[in-house]
Amino acid sequence: MLIAQLSDVHVRRRGELYKGLVDSNRMFAEAIEHLRGLDRRPDLVLLTGDLVDEGHADEYANVRELLKALDLPYLIVPGNHDERVNFTTAFYNHAYLPAEGPLHYCVDEFPVRIVALDSCPPGEHHGDVTAGGLEWLRATLDADLEKPTLVLMHHPPFTSGIPYLDDYRYFEGGLLASIIEGRKNIEAVLCGHVHRSMVRRWAGTVVMACPSTTTQIALRLAPGAEPCSYAGPPACLLHLWTAEGLVSHISYIGEFEGPYPFF
Ligand SMILES: [Fe+2]
Ligand SMILES: [Fe+2]
Repeated sequence: MLIAQLSDVHVRRRGELYKGLVDSNRMFAEAIEHLRGLDRRPDLVLLTGDLVDEGHADEYANVRELLKALDLPYLIVPGNHDERVNFTTAFYNHAYLPAEGPLHYCVDEFPVRIVALDSCPPGEHHGDVTAGGLEWLRATLDADLEKPTLVLMHHPPFTSGIPYLDDYRYFEGGLLASIIEGRKNIEAVLCGHVHRSMVRRWAGTVVMACPSTTTQIALRLAPGAEPCSYAGPPACLLHLWTAEGLVSHISYIGEFEGPYPFF
């Protein structure tokens, strides 16, 4: 099974630029074209949050318009730039989304079980899951201790070392780790939010953060570093599931010189 992950697409209203500078709408369309042009068709696409930039209904209308070009099944997870009511209204036909409350869900119709956790307290930019959400997660994971499982959430539950990102991180990673820990069937926790690729061993599994299809946060690790970002290189993740396990690839979106002969 091939699973593509797109994250932090930050779609704006038609004709509007992200941060007034970057054409995130065009870049999302290009990311969709990129998936359609892969030599192996993904079986599933995961969109791990920040589908839009300001949570407006018009932005969601534009996301849906752009997603018409994606002829693949996809699942969506909210990010801190999403607005819960507008999000669920726009995706009313995504039956796996709860009608109200935090948007936790489980989709169990693929060879890999998908367990999505809503890490977005309404109106906040940092990540958190309520006690009820953590209990939901425990019960959902307890229901199948065998089937390979991917946990999705927008905020990576660790400190990145990039100071201006860590102000908006998931703060209670320890509580979450205590639920994930010891479950051999959790192949990975897939996140977004940080607009960069990051990997960390965590709670006995691997956490991966997906790059954005639009701006990439600058890699600055000095304390007090000035926040900034770059218009690329945009990328997505391709998670290939086989009987051997999960292999995750970064797939850059754009035109590059080549292909050169291998030998
Ligand atoms: Fe984002
Ligand atoms: Fe985010």
